[in-house]
Amino acid sequence: MNSRYKRHLVTAALPYANGAVHIGHLAGVYIPADIYTRYLRMRGEDVRFICGSDEHGVPITIKAKQNNCTPQEIVDKYHLIIKDSFERLGISFDIYSRTTSATHHKTASDFFRKLYLDGKFIERESEQYYDEEANQFLADRYITGICPKCSAEDAYGDQCEKCGSTLSPTELINPKSALSGKTPVMKSTSHWYLPLDQYEPWLKEWILEGHKEWKINVYGQCKSWLDGGLMPRAVSRDLDWGVPVPVEGASGKVLYVWFDAPIGYISNTIELMPNDWERWWKSEDTKLVHFIGKDNIVFHCIVFPAMLKAHGDGYILPENVPANEFLNLEGNKISTSRNWAVWLHEYLDEFPGKEDVLRYVLCANAPETKDNDFTWKDFQTRNNSELVGIFGNFVNRAVVLTHKYFEGEVPTAVRYETVDEEVIAQIPILKKSIEESIESYKFREALREAMNLARLGNKYLTETEPWKIAKSDMERVAAILNISLQICANLAIAFEPILPHTTKKLRYILNMKSSNWSDFGNSTILIPGHKINQASLLFEKIEDSEIEFQIAKLTATKESNEMVVVESTETATTPLKDECAYEDFMKMDIRTATVLEAERVPKTDKLLRLTIDTGLDKRTIVSGIAEFYTPEEMIGKQISILANLAPRKIKGIESKGMILMAKEEGGKMRIITPEERVINGSTIS
Ligand code: MF3
Ligand code: ZN
Repeated sequence: MNSRYKRHLVTAALPYANGAVHIGHLAGVYIPADIYTRYLRMRGEDVRFICGSDEHGVPITIKAKQNNCTPQEIVDKYHLIIKDSFERLGISFDIYSRTTSATHHKTASDFFRKLYLDGKFIERESEQYYDEEANQFLADRYITGICPKCSAEDAYGDQCEKCGSTLSPTELINPKSALSGKTPVMKSTSHWYLPLDQYEPWLKEWILEGHKEWKINVYGQCKSWLDGGLMPRAVSRDLDWGVPVPVEGASGKVLYVWFDAPIGYISNTIELMPNDWERWWKSEDTKLVHFIGKDNIVFHCIVFPAMLKAHGDGYILPENVPANEFLNLEGNKISTSRNWAVWLHEYLDEFPGKEDVLRYVLCANAPETKDNDFTWKDFQTRNNSELVGIFGNFVNRAVVLTHKYFEGEVPTAVRYETVDEEVIAQIPILKKSIEESIESYKFREALREAMNLARLGNKYLTETEPWKIAKSDMERVAAILNISLQICANLAIAFEPILPHTTKKLRYILNMKSSNWSDFGNSTILIPGHKINQASLLFEKIEDSEIEFQIAKLTATKESNEMVVVESTETATTPLKDECAYEDFMKMDIRTATVLEAERVPKTDKLLRLTIDTGLDKRTIVSGIAEFYTPEEMIGKQISILANLAPRKIKGIESKGMILMAKEEGGKMRIITPEERVINGSTIS
């Protein structure tokens, strides 16, 4: 695999140390990254897995103000909580450091200085919002106001959380200082800018031509940024928390957090390998992969690469950036400030020994191609019917029967029957498909295939019924149990990247010393006569009461937030239309398609112009969904369309087809997306 590369540098987004880690972070970034890294290590690759806390930036100073303490106290507190909870979940970083470290301050500072001395920045004077009461410039989140895109009340100076748009402070309607609540004044200040526009041709070449294989949501977002035209971006801020700008006369200024944080990947590598880090960051035979969430795409695909390019000195660029979409919780957007989340450290305390259940459920629901929903009910079902019912049940039966009939020794298979050979032949096929899935960042698929191995074993035992044959044909029983134990051993390898706590237990039960990926696929891993240990349960059933407790916790949050509780008893009131003949329905050609490009139709509020891939062609559709979706949100989404609707001109644009939407009585509209990504052009009926 990956023969072009000698080593793998895997990074996971540095979490902000202004709060704990929640399931959204895990499903989007850390669990996929950990599975990928563990897999590479098992394959004998040279890998380093780099992470750490992102400890600068306005959210941290704001949190400190709210808590009446210093920013340092905030980051000290959350850095420990985050680091410890990752460790308990088994996220196998080679280093988890922090951006307040001396190494990072020096690295980031040197990086800036080099760009500064090489003349890579533009220095510019501009008018920015200033709070006269607090005597402070209002960067990013220090300023709030009404979102110009979606009219949400409390958008920030850098971003609207409601609609996800990237904003600049002066775009906000009715701006207010987050410090004093006062209307700010304009005051002149000077900053350094990275002229991203100069890197645009190079970025277009590198991404749009060179990385067509990137995930569609990642490629699409990059394309939309690049097509829109890049502008110089300020890389400094007027703040007293951060890495000081290392230039004479720049007191009171620090590096913008999105300038220093990605350099943290480098600093943390330096801290891990002070004498060897350059070989990892500066040689073409390192494969660099960034695991991130979708809100980080522009920084990892455009800004950081431009910084590395500007630096010169031979830094490599990411080979891939497999960004995920977002995970929702019980139908609502996860929110740190509203406490609408399942916090990792709380989960670990409340479900001791069930680290892998969370890993399993979040991997199975990872928002790889679209936003996804976590529900406690689904968590319980997946545990009880998949982990307990299939994986645990199979292993338990195989081990208990081996003790019952062969005193815990792996029996000899003298002869194979057809059913045995068929089962054995499946193992290497599943292995190959797991490898392909992981190497193309499709972790849900990998998990499904690994689970299919357990299903295979379960079905095999159920069909061959060794407990019945035991009265007449012990030689047959021996063959069946030998094969069942070999499947168990293969499971111990296949699941090692995904469920490391479970496979450790399983290896103990099977008395397996190690698990090598190269043994996976074999039906002779455990040799006859090998002694195994007593069975113990790999998974336990989760009771209704445990789930009810979690749901009650969320309900309490909802009530304290006065969130609108949408009752499922609400009913639709649109009356049913007249009966429709089957033939009439069949005239409609309804299909799946993927949005490739999206932009607002100028001078309209409601219309988006979308370029879609229907599997048959690429075409333009104009759709009245701009009130409900931003262009960025739509890119990469899979939708359902009426493909044979007669073309219509809308605002002078020919629109071919119609997007199918669910429309609520109140007017809210949502697109209709297949539960799993399917081939574009799949018919819907
Ligand atoms: N702290 C950022 C976030 O949580 C991620 C920073 S990633 C890095 O969105 F590259 F800047 F480190
Ligand atoms: Zn908005």
